[in-house]
Order: sequence, then structure tokens, then C-alpha cells
Amino acid sequence: MARLTENYLLNKEGTGKDTRHLVIDLSGSGLTYTCGDSLGVYPTHRMGYVEEVLGALGATGEESIALPRTGEEMTLREAMSKKVSLAGPTGKFLHTLSEKVESKKEKARLADLLARENKKATRKYLANREVIDLLEEFPTAKFSPQEFVGSMRRLVPRLYSIASAPIRYPREAHLTVAVVRYRTNNRDREGVCSTYLADRIDLHDPSVPVFVAKSPFGLPKDEAADMIMVGPGTGIAPFRAFLQERAALKSTGRNWLFFGDRHAASDYLYGEEFEAMKAAGQLERIDLAWSRDQDHKIYVQDKLLEAGPTVWEWIRSGANFYVCGDAQRMAKDVHAALHAIAREHGGLSRDEAVRYFRKMRRERRYQRDIY
Ligand SMILES: Cc1cc2nc3c(=O)[nH]c(=O)nc-3n(C[C@H](O)[C@H](O)[C@H](O)COP(=O)(O)OP(=O)(O)OC[C@H]3O[C@@H](n4cnc5c(N)ncnc54)[C@H](O)[C@@H]3O)c2cc1C
Ligand SMILES: NC(=O)c1ccc[n+]([C@@H]2O[C@H](COP(=O)([O-])OP(=O)(O)OC[C@H]3O[C@@H](n4cnc5c(N)ncnc54)[C@H](OP(=O)(O)O)[C@@H]3O)[C@@H](O)[C@H]2O)c1
Repeated sequence: MARLTENYLLNKEGTGKDTRHLVIDLSGSGLTYTCGDSLGVYPTHRMGYVEEVLGALGATGEESIALPRTGEEMTLREAMSKKVSLAGPTGKFLHTLSEKVESKKEKARLADLLARENKKATRKYLANREVIDLLEEFPTAKFSPQEFVGSMRRLVPRLYSIASAPIRYPREAHLTVAVVRYRTNNRDREGVCSTYLADRIDLHDPSVPVFVAKSPFGLPKDEAADMIMVGPGTGIAPFRAFLQERAALKSTGRNWLFFGDRHAASDYLYGEEFEAMKAAGQLERIDLAWSRDQDHKIYVQDKLLEAGPTVWEWIRSGANFYVCGDAQRMAKDVHAALHAIAREHGGLSRDEAVRYFRKMRRERRYQRDIY
């Protein structure tokens, strides 16, 4: 159990984003970490949402249930708050519903959703819904509290890259959290853990359940090695830690940071800290990509390509290359940009570039922490 001691917005006025800086005090928890590790957080659902689901089930919440895996007994309300996921329903839940509904119309609708030929449309249907939507769309489904808990997925902890260096903050873990809020199927939705951290923990509450997830992602052993770090959005988190550590150790390797987000004026996360590091000579270079300050998108990979000759020079002379953040698009595009740079400025063929970056990964000179 740890204590939340700071929670503030990193974005400035005019932003469309909600990215928080959170400080978790680990004193007395026995937890220690190294740069590159993540903090695991066990969230609870918003009580209002739990009550809504209880209402749709026709339950009071006081019913006793036993958890499927462990047999641990607790009330339905407690299980729904912290043990089962009430967010994205699965195909399996549709199957369970089809066995439980009493109305013919609802049965037919579920048969339609479960038909093999409708797989793609059903995936889309589920992506826009949470458990409450399904309980409301299929109101004749009747569950015992035990059956309901048995048909839900477990609520699992979420990981957050630690944004502080232990050499500087041995008893604290800093986090950079993008708060997930969106609207689907005419309802406002919330990411469970990011809103748990941002909205539902009182400052100085000593009972935030956390763990340290060790990671192979980390600083080069050689303090003289140069580093290129690419971390748009919350991907910046581990690099703040890396830079704090390298500054404290007075490491001689050069540091080059690529950061990007929507707007220069509001979304330069930890901008003052990085600019101060640059002024002090701890950061050799910062390249910034603001995606929404002009009509066309400018992303970190565009900045990498622009600086291609120098990026290649650094890599060729032994620099370590790091990427953190979005796995779906950003990390793939950055990887493609690296290949383009190796071909254009290093004269490598497509196959040679593939082999070059594979070797870099084996040697741990090319590391990614993507999610
Ligand atoms: C190693 C690692 C490090 C990480 N580090 C960080 C970090 O430093 N900072 C950080 O903020 N996160 C980080 N994450 C991500 C973090 O773990 C969570 O996944 C994130 O906070 C969302 O969790 P949540 O519980 O708030 O949202 P959830 O309840 O899990 O909801 C997220 C889900 O909501 C749905 N969704 C989201 N937006 C939309 C939309 N617009 N439309 C439709 N559906 C949508 C998607 O299905 C998405 O998967 C990291 C992940 C890993 C694995
Ligand atoms: N697995 C996850 O749960 C997960 C992972 C990452 C992000 N997210 C979602 O993203 C939200 C914010 O996350 P975040 O602040 O870390 O980052 P983000 O907002 O996704 O992105 C930060 C910057 O990266 C840009 N970007 C978009 N596509 C890109 C690409 N292909 N290559 C390079 N840059 C690209 C964005 O530009 P534009 O937005 O202007 O296009 C923005 O400027 C969260 O609310 C979360 O829901 C979720």
C-alpha cells in the first residue's frame, strides 16, 4: 500500500487533454525500483457505475458471492468494485446472455450477434459498449449474483512507466497519466485505472495498492553511451527518469530527446524541466513535433526524418535508441522512419537495414517500452 501525495494537470490552458503528474509515496511499502520499471496499480470502479450495474441486475449489492478462482467470499458490491471488470464485455458474455434471456426477440438479436458471418460487426458493436449497455439492451436476462460474477473478466492491474529516477526520489514514484475519457453509444465512458488515479483517490490516502513491475527497458550500462529517446505523449515518462538519473550520475554520454503532442503552448509535458536541462548542457538536443499547431500533422517520426543525417551519425557511432508510448501507430511509424534513415543516409539495402536493427535490438541498443 502506498500514498498519493501529488496530483496535478501537466497540460496548460487551452489544451484538449488531461495528462496528470502523480506522485506516489512508497515509504514503508518496501518497494524499490530502477529507471525503466513501471508501477502496477490495482484500480477500483467508480461507485456510481457499480450501483448502476447493480440496479440493472436487480441486486442490492449485499449478496454474498465467492470469487471464481480463489473462492474468497465477499459481497457482490465489493467484487464488482475491485475484482471483476465491468468495462469491455466479451463475446463469451454474449453467449452467457443468450442462455439467460427469456424474450424471443432478445434471443434472436443475440443469435444474430453471435453468428459467425457477423463477427466483424459484432466486434465493433462490443467495442462501443460496456456491461451496463448489454444489461439494458437485454433486460430479460436474469443472473444470480454468483453467475454474474462468474461470467465477468477479472479486473486486472494497469502499468504506468515510472517518470522519476530513484537516485533523486528514492521513496517516490512519479507517474505521467493520460486520463481516458470518451463517449460511445451515447454514454460518457471512463478508463478504470486512469480515472481511479486522477479522480477517486484522496490526496494522502495511504492505501493505494501498487507493485513495481521490473522491466528490461533501462539505461545503457555504459554511462558514456549516447542516447536518442523518442517519447511522444505519456511516452515521455521513462525518459524524464533516464535524464534525471544521467544528470545525477554526471554521465558523459550525450542525450537527444524527441517529444511530441498536440500543441506547443499547452502540451509540452515537463517542458520547463527539459529546457532547463538543455540550458545546463544535460540535454544535447530536443526536437519537438506539434501535431495540431498547423493544418497538417507533424509527428516525432517527421522530426527524426528531418534530422536523418545526424540521427544516423549518432546511431552509427554507437548511440542507444529508445522508443516509448503508443504501440498501435507511433512505434511502427518510428521504426519505419529508422529504416528509411538507415537506407538513405547509411546506404543500407532493405535487408541490411532489417539485420542492422535486429542486431541493435539483440545488443539492447534499440529498446522499446510500448503499449
Ligand atoms: C508497460 C506499460 C507502461 C504504460 N505506461 C503508461 C504511462 O506512463 N502513462 C499512461 O497514461 N498509460 C500508460 N500505460 C497504459 C496504462 O496501463 C493503461 O492502459 C491506461 O491508463 C488505460 O487504462 P484505464 O484503466 O484508464 O482504461 P481502460 O478501462 O482499460 O480503458 C481503455 C480502453 O478503453 C477503450 N477506449 C479508450 N479510448 C477510446 C475511444 N476514444 N473510443 C472507444 N474506446 C476507447 C479502449 O478499448 C481501451 O483499451 C502503460 C501500459 C503499459 C503496458
Ligand atoms: N493502450 C492504451 O491504453 C493507450 C496507449 C496510448 C494512448 N492511448 C490513448 O491516448 C490518449 C493520450 O495518450 P498520450 O497522451 O500518451 O498520447 P496521444 O495523445 O495518443 O499522442 C501524443 C501525440 O502523438 C501524436 N500521434 C498520433 N499518431 C501518431 C503516430 N502515428 N506517430 C507519431 N505520433 C502520433 C498525437 O497526434 P494527434 O492526436 O494530433 O494525431 C499527439 O500529438 C489516452 O487518453 C489514451 O486513451 C491509449
